[in-house]
Amino acid sequence: MKNNVFIANWKMNKPFALALDFCTQHKTELKKLSSRPHTEIVLCPSFDVLFSVAEILSDTLVNLGAQTCSPHERGAYTGQVSASSLKEVGCDYCIIGHSEQRQYANVSNEDVAEQAIRLLEADIEPIICIGETKKIFEQDQAIRFLEEQLNPVLAEVTSFEKPITIAYEPIWSIGTGIMPDRDYLIKIFTWLSRIGKYKLSHNEWRLVYGGSVDPENMDVFTSINHLHGFLVGSASLDFQKFEKIVLLKT
Ligand code: PGA
Repeated sequence: MKNNVFIANWKMNKPFALALDFCTQHKTELKKLSSRPHTEIVLCPSFDVLFSVAEILSDTLVNLGAQTCSPHERGAYTGQVSASSLKEVGCDYCIIGHSEQRQYANVSNEDVAEQAIRLLEADIEPIICIGETKKIFEQDQAIRFLEEQLNPVLAEVTSFEKPITIAYEPIWSIGTGIMPDRDYLIKIFTWLSRIGKYKLSHNEWRLVYGGSVDPENMDVFTSINHLHGFLVGSASLDFQKFEKIVLLKT
């Protein structure tokens, strides 16, 4: 498991042609970035482009991730995509439990646990997203809330003894330009690393932060222990910004 992982979550922002253009246009730089020591680049485009992106970047070390997957193995689930199929098209990662999936697709903590099982069965590393709302943050209840989000999924992943990534993404920071302060991040990442040590002794694990990450506001992350990378939304749509984030941290 590499120490610095940079996950580009394109959400539904790059339709087919734009996504392929991005990969073709920046292939040389992406190749270089992904060959940096201890550095891992994961691109997460929408489902429709995964296969073509995998082909374009096949001779680079760039990894491919999906943005969600079905909690089911196979069957009559119109509109869903299975973990095993994602593996076949070239995914080694998959984001699950993103707050937008929880909000718009009613994904529950139990669904996230099932998705993680399907992914680990297919040898895909789950990127498990957790994060509190502004209200919960203001009530100082974040840790209790995050623990509720994590417990069902952690109970399932331990038996697999495979790597997982946990992404802490406070909902009030996603797409808002608002960043938690350093002390708060230290508190959350110290707590998360303790969870990792006690509950994930059979897995390799990594912790990443997501929410308004931008080259202009990376100072806040200086010397935060146990932070192994970033889940980048808006800034990952612009190659120069994404590259800067990687270079500032590696
Ligand atoms: P953002 O999105 O960087 O645009 O805030 C992050 C995310 O939703 O994963």
